[in-house]
Amino acid sequence: MMHPDEFRRIGYQIIDMIADYRATIANRPVWSQLRPGEFRSQLPATPPEQPEPPEAILADVERLIIPGLSNWQHPRFFGYFPANASLASLLGDFLSGGLGQLGLNWQASPPLTELEELTTDWMRQLLGLSEAWRGVIQDTASTSTLVALLCARERASDHSQVRGGLQALPQPLVVYTSIQSHSSVEKAALLAGFGRDNLRLLPVDDTFALRVDTLADAIATDRAAGRVPCAVVASIGATATTACDPLEPIGELCRREGIWLHVDAAMAGSAMILPECRYLWQGIEQADSLVLNPHKWLGAAFDCSLYYVRDPQHLIRVMSTNPSYLQTSADGAVTNYRDWGIPLGRRFRALKLYFLLRCEGAEGLRTRLRRDIANARWLAEQIDATPHWRRLAPVPLQTVCVRHEPPGLTGEDLDRHTLRWVGAINASGAAYLTPAMLDGRWMVRISIGAEPTEHTDVAALWALMQEVVRG
Ligand SMILES: Cc1ncc(COP(=O)(O)O)c(C=O)c1O
Repeated sequence: MMHPDEFRRIGYQIIDMIADYRATIANRPVWSQLRPGEFRSQLPATPPEQPEPPEAILADVERLIIPGLSNWQHPRFFGYFPANASLASLLGDFLSGGLGQLGLNWQASPPLTELEELTTDWMRQLLGLSEAWRGVIQDTASTSTLVALLCARERASDHSQVRGGLQALPQPLVVYTSIQSHSSVEKAALLAGFGRDNLRLLPVDDTFALRVDTLADAIATDRAAGRVPCAVVASIGATATTACDPLEPIGELCRREGIWLHVDAAMAGSAMILPECRYLWQGIEQADSLVLNPHKWLGAAFDCSLYYVRDPQHLIRVMSTNPSYLQTSADGAVTNYRDWGIPLGRRFRALKLYFLLRCEGAEGLRTRLRRDIANARWLAEQIDATPHWRRLAPVPLQTVCVRHEPPGLTGEDLDRHTLRWVGAINASGAAYLTPAMLDGRWMVRISIGAEPTEHTDVAALWALMQEVVRG
């Protein structure tokens, strides 16, 4: 059993290790160059029988783990999406672990619950959302979207869960989303029991956004066939290109049709702390539920996904379980977050948001996001102005989708060229970019916004891109 004094001694060393790692990260290759199994083969196959000194473990972390990492916090990390960055937020996350709280109900840790109420409301205000919204912290957007579809299912079926469930419904319930929506939407629809036959992955327009007329047609076709339109999942900042579905007309359609509207703004939602970006989710107040991940671009330590609803009573009715051992005399007067999602046990996640917001301040966060948007616009301008480079989608925020298209190269030859140059950059360790498919062809996503990424890093990436396509 580790004594608090020992914890203090080793804990300081771990803090030093993290601080050194972050301070020197720019000297490392951006992405792990390990081969599958190479890391594990250096560790004992069987568990330790006797206690080992923590120093020996720290030495292994220095020697084996840190050199093998893919460095998401590197200034030249342009892959996937920015995530998990803020050391201020990390302090809150540490504290959460250290205080050892478990929020089974309000009484099990009153500050855990009330800080979650407070920080989700602070975020609501920063995002410019009305007071109609109430928030809860889930682990990931995948969970939040699953919860949303479960709530949609129960609303459309008049709480079929307390009878025969979906299996007893006379007609199938249908979910609509765009072909560009994140795979978590499809996964949530399947897990919530809708079935693939009742999931409509709808085509998009030339900005990769869902078309409201296509959506309306799909809904009408299903109604005519006796099926029940249940939920629309709209994307604000779809993963590949940051496409934003037109929420205003989609919301109006959903209201008219009595369909649940869930908005997946997992990545782009952070940008809504900037008033000048809120046009992207114009119409948000018509949605029933909304998810955004502060653990992405905003910088919160993973995992921190905000799920907002306009009707918490419906959420509670769908999610509630009330065994006697969890009941307390305070129940009528407090929030019991176990009824706001799937897990019973709850970490003190609000601390990482609390530390982030207090240490950085809203203005500090806005300044950083504006820096990243300006860097993305600069890169988009360079691409637009340079022969044989093509920007494939609008750049509303910080993601730039690009292809280098030398004359005469098309089809699979073009794919090979794309994968070769992005592979060369990633293997060099000098930067990391994500190749992805768009319209059936490979392209490269450049996602700007790691915490230390400055204009010089983006300029260096652009120089490198031009160099590798020549090679
Ligand atoms: C638009 C969008 N939705 C959902 C997700 C899934 O997020 P999570 O890992 O929190 O489940 C992502 C992650 O890349 C995303 O970009």
